[in-house]
Amino acid sequence: MEHDYDHLQRAAKDHLWMHFTRHSTYDTSDVPIIVRGEGAYIYDAQGKRYLDGLGGLFVSQLGHGRTELADAAAAQAKELAFHPLWSYAHPNAILLAERIAGYAPGDLNRVFFTTGGGEAVESAWKLAKNYFKLTGKPMKHKVISRSIAYHGTTQGALSITGLPPLKQQFEPLVPSTFRVPNTNLYRASEATGGFLDGSDPEAFGRWAADQIAVAIENEGPDTVAAVFLEPVQNAGGCFPPPPGYFDRVREICDEYDVLLVSDEVICAYGRLGHMFGAERYGYQPDIITSAKGITSGYAPLGAMIASDRLMEPFLHGSESFAHGFTFGGHPVSTAVAMANFDIFEQEHILEHVRDNEGAFRATLERLLDLPIVGDVRGDGYFYGIELVKDKGTRETFNEEESEKLLRGFLSKALYDEGLYCRADDRGDPVIQLSPPLICDQAHFDEMEQILRTVLDKAATLL
Ligand SMILES: Cc1ncc(COP(=O)(O)O)c(C=O)c1O
Repeated sequence: MEHDYDHLQRAAKDHLWMHFTRHSTYDTSDVPIIVRGEGAYIYDAQGKRYLDGLGGLFVSQLGHGRTELADAAAAQAKELAFHPLWSYAHPNAILLAERIAGYAPGDLNRVFFTTGGGEAVESAWKLAKNYFKLTGKPMKHKVISRSIAYHGTTQGALSITGLPPLKQQFEPLVPSTFRVPNTNLYRASEATGGFLDGSDPEAFGRWAADQIAVAIENEGPDTVAAVFLEPVQNAGGCFPPPPGYFDRVREICDEYDVLLVSDEVICAYGRLGHMFGAERYGYQPDIITSAKGITSGYAPLGAMIASDRLMEPFLHGSESFAHGFTFGGHPVSTAVAMANFDIFEQEHILEHVRDNEGAFRATLERLLDLPIVGDVRGDGYFYGIELVKDKGTRETFNEEESEKLLRGFLSKALYDEGLYCRADDRGDPVIQLSPPLICDQAHFDEMEQILRTVLDKAATLL
């Protein structure tokens, strides 16, 4: 489609309110406008090509330009554009629910559709509260989550989020959420006050999991409904679970009758080489929250997947879960999700990620020879690269340096060099990578080369 570039710039600046955006940045520069995508690449309005190193926003599992997914959307819109799931059903919602239940671990057989991840998180918290009210534990309502973890921006999901700078402007938020330490092994010494140095990941995992039990005890087990954890925590820069962490968390949740919610808005649907992160790390959640990759981004959709036990009280008499969204489980989105999973199966996408993740890791680890690269961590096609001021002491940048480095230089420099990814300082400064799952060694090399060029320059700025 042809566009008038000057008109787009003017209209973007005059009318479009972008998300999490410092609009003043664009007082003196153009708004980056992306017009099309092909495979692992996106193209801007001037025709310049970028490697989509973040999969849009941890979304584009199959990459861009998949006509099968566009065709599935068009066919469904022609047949039935819309009907809600409020006491009615439509075929793709039914078949997708059945399919996801088949992929999900254990008895996670009940699928409640939303339009995105934050709504899935909201739905999980409301379900946890409602379930306990119906099963004789009406005081159970509180939520435990981890420090620096992001769980969404709606008021409940934001309350569960562990990032104070994102919350302050909106306080008071929904009360009754509490933070425990995350599993940043690189910073184990700081987290444990020097008690553990991270050289024994299992001991650190045990310690971190035990903090959940401490928090439950502190709050009173009769008041705690759920703990929300990502398989690999994104914010802060990809913290995988240390060995044994989720086994211990499951034990704690069972001991205190607290629901384990695996927030897989990023980690599900192949990101870690499995349909669900819980499967990769071998634990059984009570609820999985998911979105993003479920459609590879060709239409908006989220899903909260609950165990049979959690739906059981709603199956009798006049009970219902009084909760829903007009567009949750939209016919077009569910049709696209079905087509997305067809391609996952035909093209062995999960196997592709598992076969290539070692190469991805090894390629990124080459960057460890740069003085500014402190840590490379993650799993599957999901990595964080932590930048440090002093590699020996692991000293991080102060706020001013971080501002200069990340916002002032890195984000733009990486983009100018042809890599779309994210430089983030919600915890310590990191670069986040989450490329389409179709990527291979040539893409990994391209990422590494661009990162090397830009990080070399970044080191000279400070
Ligand atoms: C773990 C996690 N939970 C929830 C959300 C919120 O999802 P959405 O932006 O679709 O509302 C995100 C978004 O990135 C996420 O990463």
